[in-house]
Amino acid sequence: MTKLSIEDLDKRLAILKLSKYPGLLDELAAASDTLHIFRNWTPLKLVALSYVVGPYLRIIGGLEKSKGNVESIYIDLFAGSGINKVEGAESLIAGSPIVAIDCANTSPKKFDKMYFVDLKEENIQALYERLTLLSERDEFSWIGGRCKLIIGDANRAILKIRKELDKIKYKNYLAFIDPYKWELKWKSLEKLLEIPMGMYS
Ligand SMILES: C[S@@+](CC[C@H](N)C(=O)[O-])C[C@H]1O[C@@H](n2cnc3c(N)ncnc32)[C@H](O)[C@@H]1O
Repeated sequence: MTKLSIEDLDKRLAILKLSKYPGLLDELAAASDTLHIFRNWTPLKLVALSYVVGPYLRIIGGLEKSKGNVESIYIDLFAGSGINKVEGAESLIAGSPIVAIDCANTSPKKFDKMYFVDLKEENIQALYERLTLLSERDEFSWIGGRCKLIIGDANRAILKIRKELDKIKYKNYLAFIDPYKWELKWKSLEKLLEIPMGMYS
């Protein structure tokens, strides 16, 4: 197992601050007045997400090489507006949709589809503005046409997403589930986990 160093944690925080792209975080923040003020554990969840996306996509990419096409899907059921401000701090950090997209940039295999769900229309509208801006940059142009934004309750959205995914034969998904409390019903989680991945002979 690789030993993680404290410098690696710095790298993770740099991902959340989009430090690789000078000025981009402020540009995305300015695309809408909507951003979230969150408690100070929010960056920790996003650091966890940043650890998962790259390795996940590399595994799916490897599977694709040996077995053939596999659609890889990212599902963010409580997506927010794309930009967060941590309570009591001046600085901004990227929200889960943008962290997932940025981490996918490190892998040759990208997400083929991304679903972003939020109950609040203003969050989805702000996220739409931010993803549009992001897709206009060369490094992120691959997201064009791959993002599906859904305004509504995550429990209902799962049914809709499932119906769409049922049409794809070989697929794999990564879901990030980040509610405030208990907004996701157990039955809905079961529906998500039941999505068949397809079988190779
Ligand atoms: C903890 S925040 C998520 C933050 C986001 N993942 C990020 O990194 O910026 C929870 C989000 O869930 C949304 N939400 C609350 N209830 C919901 C529901 N039943 N279905 C979908 N979204 C919901 C809120 O509007 C809020 O944006």
